Amino acid sequence: MDKKRIAGEKAAEFVEDGMIVGLGTGSTAYWAVRRIGERVRDGLRVQGVPTSERTRELALELGIPVVSLDDFPQLDLTIDGADEIDDNFHLIKGGGGALFREKVVALASRRLVIVADDGKWVGKLGAFRLPVEVVPFGWRRTVRAVEATGCRAELRIEGTNPYETDNGNWILDCDFGTIADPAGLHHSLKRITGVVETGLFVGMADTVVLGTEAGVRILS
Ligand code: 5RP
Repeated sequence: MDKKRIAGEKAAEFVEDGMIVGLGTGSTAYWAVRRIGERVRDGLRVQGVPTSERTRELALELGIPVVSLDDFPQLDLTIDGADEIDDNFHLIKGGGGALFREKVVALASRRLVIVADDGKWVGKLGAFRLPVEVVPFGWRRTVRAVEATGCRAELRIEGTNPYETDNGNWILDCDFGTIADPAGLHHSLKRITGVVETGLFVGMADTVVLGTEAGVRILS
C-alpha cells in the first residue's frame, strides 16, 4: 500500500465546491493535488494557490485554476506534507525547500490539513534536520549566528551549487537533536538577521491525515 498516496487522496476529499485551496509541495501533497485535479475534471470548481513553482506547474498541467495569494489573501483550506509531526501537531517542514511559501500559504488558510505516511509521526521533533531559509548575502555570518542557538548547520547543496529556493534564497539544514521547545527555538532563529523563515510550524496544523499499513488515520 502506498501510504503517501492514500493520505494525499483522502485529504483531497476535504475540498468542497467553490473553495480557494492552498496546494502543498512534496511527494505526499502531490497525490492530493492530483486527486483535486481529477475532481476538477469531474466538475469541481476550485481555485488553487500553489506553495512552490513545482506545484504551480503540476496544478496547471492538471487543469486546476491557479490564483495568487495577493488576489485571494484568505484561503479556505491548505493541504500540505511534513517531514515530522509531533504529539502536539507541531511540524518540521522544508525538506523539499518550499518552507517559506508553505508557511505564508498555511498562515492565510482557515484550515491546514497535513498529509504524511505514519513514519513522519514522532514523539518529539528533531531527528529530521531543521531547514532554515537564509539570504545568500553574508550567509557565513548567518550560519555562525544560527549555530550559536545550539546546532550544527549545513548549507544544502544541489549538484555543485547551493540549493536555491523559489525566493532566490538558500537553505541551512540544522541538527539541533531533540527540539524541546519548538516555539522558543523558532523565535530565537527568527531574531537573526539573514534568517528568512524556519521550517518549524508551531500550532498551525488543524488535521493530520496519516497513511498507515492498515489504511488512513485522521487526527484532529
Ligand atoms: C516541502 C515540504 C514537504 O511537505 C515535506 O518535505 C514532505 O515531503 P514528502 O511528502 O515528499 O515526504 O515541506 O518543503
